[in-house]
Amino acid sequence: MKSLAVFASGTGTNFVAIAKACAAGVIDARVALLVCDKPGAPVLDRARELGVDTFVFSAKDYASKADYEAEIVKRLDALKVDLVCLAGYMRIVGETLLQAYEGKIINIHPSLLPAFRGAHAVEQAVAYGVKVYGITIHWVNSDLDGGKIIAQRAFPYEGSDPAEVHAIGQKIEHELYVETINKVLCER
Ligand code: GAR
Repeated sequence: MKSLAVFASGTGTNFVAIAKACAAGVIDARVALLVCDKPGAPVLDRARELGVDTFVFSAKDYASKADYEAEIVKRLDALKVDLVCLAGYMRIVGETLLQAYEGKIINIHPSLLPAFRGAHAVEQAVAYGVKVYGITIHWVNSDLDGGKIIAQRAFPYEGSDPAEVHAIGQKIEHELYVETINKVLCER
């Protein structure tokens, strides 16, 4: 069976969707590890409830990004992780992790890339007055939110409330991430 690692920094609704899909056999893989850079993040409670092992770190405890990423790579290697799924991991992936897991890292982003890269994508889109929002899942490379697109789903929204856009988008994210992980795993 294939092994996934999910990286998250916050609430963890995508992590829960992925872990539950694995547990139910909807994704033919197991979540071998949750990596979290925020001690105390709610996603850690979700991992405990679902019985998923975690690696939690604080970047400030390491001399550099290369140092904490080397520690992450060691743990991913030990678990023979096939695919890394970034799900609200709010750190830029560095060279150490990219080189070790090249072509094996995907990310979910709350906009129709290449529009609205980076943090606060929904807020940026609302400020711009866009009428069609969306979700993108893409390969991760050294270009922030710039890797090749694997899947996208759009939805219309005429209002101006970022919280509403987040709520609509997250339902789509959970379905799209599960579908896309299956697709990626089938193709390797
Ligand atoms: C998701 O909406 C994801 O698209 C976004 O963080 C949220 C995490 O939610 N990611 C980014 O903005 C990446 N730039 P979750 O913790 O409930 O899964």
